Amino acid sequence: MEELEPYRLSAIRSGLEERAPGLYRDDGGRRWAAVCEHDRWAVELVPGLLNLKTPHLAALGPRLYVVADAGAWKIFGRQCKSYLAHWNIDYGLSVLSGGEGVKSLSVVEGIVRDLDKAGAGRDQVIVALGGGATLDVVGVVAQGYRRGVPWVRVPTTLIGAIDAGVGLKVGVNVGTAKNRVGGYCPSLITYVDPGLIATSRPEDIAGGFAEALKIGLVRDARIVGWLEAHAEGLRAWRGERDTPMQRVIEWSIDAMLTELQANPREADRRRLSDYGHAVGPLLERRANIRHGDGVAVDMALMWHVATERGHMSPEGRERLLDLAGRLGIPTTHPALTPELLADGLAEVVRQRGGNQHLPLPDDRGGPVQWGEDVEAGELAHAAAWLASR
Ligand SMILES: NC(=O)c1ccc[n+]([C@@H]2O[C@H](COP(=O)([O-])OP(=O)(O)OC[C@H]3O[C@@H](n4cnc5c(N)ncnc54)[C@H](O)[C@@H]3O)[C@@H](O)[C@H]2O)c1
Ligand SMILES: [Zn+2]
Repeated sequence: MEELEPYRLSAIRSGLEERAPGLYRDDGGRRWAAVCEHDRWAVELVPGLLNLKTPHLAALGPRLYVVADAGAWKIFGRQCKSYLAHWNIDYGLSVLSGGEGVKSLSVVEGIVRDLDKAGAGRDQVIVALGGGATLDVVGVVAQGYRRGVPWVRVPTTLIGAIDAGVGLKVGVNVGTAKNRVGGYCPSLITYVDPGLIATSRPEDIAGGFAEALKIGLVRDARIVGWLEAHAEGLRAWRGERDTPMQRVIEWSIDAMLTELQANPREADRRRLSDYGHAVGPLLERRANIRHGDGVAVDMALMWHVATERGHMSPEGRERLLDLAGRLGIPTTHPALTPELLADGLAEVVRQRGGNQHLPLPDDRGGPVQWGEDVEAGELAHAAAWLASR
């Protein structure tokens, strides 16, 4: 049996605790440590995470509780079980159906009951393996189970790898209200293995491109240029190593962590990473569409608003609409009625302390403008314009 670095979990923890607030890039850019006053967490790129010789998961401890997304478990369950058996790890397991439906209080209760049945204590390490929805619901459990247990995230979708798996927010839905109950609870570490993402559906990968474009437009224009230069290759990606996808993942994680480390608990309600999340979440719930599609349509509305207000050139708007098409992400939806847009805008204001705080970047990485007086009529006009294109 290979040697394990002893107590790796506590090593991760103390490594984070010893550092002053900041974002650290270690191991030649393969590992990040985000240290804030109250929160600290790490993200590491680990290709081949489930290979028998990769010690990262085994070193988390002799007893793990795995909560897995059924979509990912169907494909990687056998490999995961062989891995755990190889390292003599005693483990409990809950398999969730995956998808947005798992983000519910009843699923939280189900996992809690499973943990109790398995005899979990307050040091039980939970490993969440799955897409963004699974990570979000397991985070609610990790935050609350016995008032908090350590957890580790293993994303299996692109949104999980570059967004839901690298931040601090966890949450579940209540009715049509998205993330209505949740909190800030980063896992100690997130292990990102692109090979685990490769089997997710092309439309779910495209949703990840929407989040990458989002963070690129507000934080790192290199990402936008890279998506443009490699759109077709990225859509054809099936898990090959050292391809343009690698950079999308690395740069997006880096940009996301830069944004979150500076404002982890949203004391400043003006958040660049909220771009694409104004009316998108309500559209997502009411029209029952994928998260990334809601983000994409929301951004397209803002491209039109920004252009009408003179913050973006018509050529910039055309450039981004063309890129969205090449990446396979939508820019319009029939459910975008004036009523939904007005409700979405009102919901944003409730969420952002009485302000709209709508990021309005241009397409070239210039300074982001903030929309504070956008009217529902402007959005309706944008929706009509996009639908008629
Ligand atoms: N907490 C945050 O900061 C944050 C950030 C972004 C998104 N999110 C949330 O993430 C969710 C969207 O995440 P998502 O796009 O990963 O969708 P998802 O979690 O719903 O997964 C999509 C589908 O892919 C399946 N699947 C997962 N991994 C697979 C694999 N490797 N192979 C085959 N199938 C696989 C799942 O079973 C599911 O059916 C939304 O609920 C969104 O609100 C949260
Ligand atoms: Zn999102």
